[in-house]
Amino acid sequence: MASIPLKKKNIPGGKPGAGRFLQQWGMFFRQFVKHPGMIGSIIPSSATLVDRMLDQVDWHNTRLFVEYGPGVGTFTQAILDRLHPDATLLAIDLNLDFVAYLEAQFDDPRLKVVHGSAADVRRFIRQAGHVQADYILSGIPFSTLPDTVGASICAETRTALRPGGAFLVYQYSRYVRRLLDPLFAHVREGREWRNIPPCWMFCAMREEALAQAA
Ligand SMILES: C[S@@+](CC[C@H](N)C(=O)[O-])C[C@H]1O[C@@H](n2cnc3c(N)ncnc32)[C@H](O)[C@@H]1O
Repeated sequence: MASIPLKKKNIPGGKPGAGRFLQQWGMFFRQFVKHPGMIGSIIPSSATLVDRMLDQVDWHNTRLFVEYGPGVGTFTQAILDRLHPDATLLAIDLNLDFVAYLEAQFDDPRLKVVHGSAADVRRFIRQAGHVQADYILSGIPFSTLPDTVGASICAETRTALRPGGAFLVYQYSRYVRRLLDPLFAHVREGREWRNIPPCWMFCAMREEALAQAA
């Protein structure tokens, strides 16, 4: 069960005020103290990192966007602000307190929050009535997960993406690159310094159907 009583408070399309901001940081820090390996960071991602990651998305043609490790929803609100009215955002988190927090904070019918591991992404996509995702975004700390878990999440992710879809990953180390390279046709990487700590950004593209058939 979630340990924190929460009040429903949605701010569609709005920037969080100072109160909400402090509430998110407090919640995030408490969860880091409880589960450091699972959370991997003491504070949420910066607005600059969020914008740079989401600028890579073709929002017009996206109907299923999956987010791994939404935490307190730092990316979630920004994704909903950009998402097509008919599209779905499936947010998957292993931490039940974060799931309860998100369910209390967001009231958008396009958002489905599920409690579980990203390793089960294909089952969650099926249960949400979809076949494959256009984009999957991940904030999971791959470098602190057991090797086999990280490799299995990346392999499942590749299969869960439509041909031409992309896996967008932000991380504090380059460790994940060794998991992405054997699975994806192209991997691009960049750096965002305006984040605490500075962050690596990866965009791993699944090959197009035509290239697969050739
Ligand atoms: C660094 S936090 C990212 C939080 C938020 N997206 C941000 O950018 O501020 C990592 C998140 O990944 C979640 N997580 C860790 N392992 C996971 C897994 N196997 N499946 C789904 N979520 C996981 C944690 O519970 C946490 O919410």
